[in-house]
Amino acid sequence: MNAAVPRPVIEDQPVFMAAAFAHDVLAGLAAEPKTIPCTWLYDREGSELFEAITRTQAYYPTRAETGLLQSHMAELATLASGPVAVIEIGAGSITKTRLLLSVLPAATAYLPIDISAEFMLESLASLRLDFPGLPCIPVIADFTDRDSLHKAIARCPSHARRLAFFPGSTIGNLTPDAALDFLNALGESLGPGSLLAIGADATSDADILKRAYDDPEGITAAFNLNLLARVNRELGGDFRLETFRHEARVNQAKDRVEMHLVSNTNQEVNVLGRAFHFREGESIHTENSHKFGNIRFEHLAARAGWRSQMVWKSSEHQFEFHVLDRPAEPALTF
Ligand SMILES: C[S@@+](CC[C@H](N)C(=O)[O-])C[C@H]1O[C@@H](n2cnc3c(N)ncnc32)[C@H](O)[C@@H]1O
Repeated sequence: MNAAVPRPVIEDQPVFMAAAFAHDVLAGLAAEPKTIPCTWLYDREGSELFEAITRTQAYYPTRAETGLLQSHMAELATLASGPVAVIEIGAGSITKTRLLLSVLPAATAYLPIDISAEFMLESLASLRLDFPGLPCIPVIADFTDRDSLHKAIARCPSHARRLAFFPGSTIGNLTPDAALDFLNALGESLGPGSLLAIGADATSDADILKRAYDDPEGITAAFNLNLLARVNRELGGDFRLETFRHEARVNQAKDRVEMHLVSNTNQEVNVLGRAFHFREGESIHTENSHKFGNIRFEHLAARAGWRSQMVWKSSEHQFEFHVLDRPAEPALTF
């Protein structure tokens, strides 16, 4: 690792993180239907596999969003001129960030937040080669935890305006209710006058979605199955990966694509000494990606006190990038 990368702030201590992972897996496998939160897809291997997904032909969101950022970033720069501290939520490979930082010469700090510690820190080391003078405050935390999010953002220098950068349509991994709570919490922690620059996918074509979440190369399948490998590695599980298959299901009624791991057979699996039975065809629900065609991201954001400033829409797919600000008095919405 590059010695120049500052020591990360760990809001969620590894021992608590491991306990939270164990809790979510044991509770999720005991539930009916079985489910494990998608946050746990991202260990180091998971993050690398996600990056490989973004390079596939089938996964349109990264191309669509990057195209929007390349075309319109200068417009955001005019809105965010002057000293600004950039907070990136779910920073991952920190790739799109370069487009943002290159138009913000007055950026005073960069604070990436991610749960996948090693991957994010290595990505940050690479960013620092291109932006050597920029103070960086990497934070390892679960952004869905209101307290952790608040403490992370409080580490930002207070003299600069705050700009939250949240690309990747990661907001779609939350249910609409959870997304509303998150946008409220984010706004409260950032404070009045802050900006939010966020990607939201509104694609609804079932064929495009199914291909994007079950690519022909099988990389999304490997990403999903890595969760079982992670349970085996970290929680003494005995999942036989070859007895499970990846499935992407388009759920039109809920405006989302779901990822599942489906058992090919009746079987018993042990995790941390507890046995879990699977019927043939029974699945573990591992991810939701909500699409904002019907839900409308701007309405959700307005309900959380954010005011729309700009919306960029891709021509080929229905990917949207929104720039919003946080007025001192949240606008009344009905
Ligand atoms: C869909 S990827 C997007 C990555 C990148 N921002 C992009 O646009 O390609 C989601 C990112 O959020 C991180 N992540 C997922 N759930 C998280 C959580 N609850 N708290 C913190 N980071 C999380 C993952 O590790 C991953 O880097």
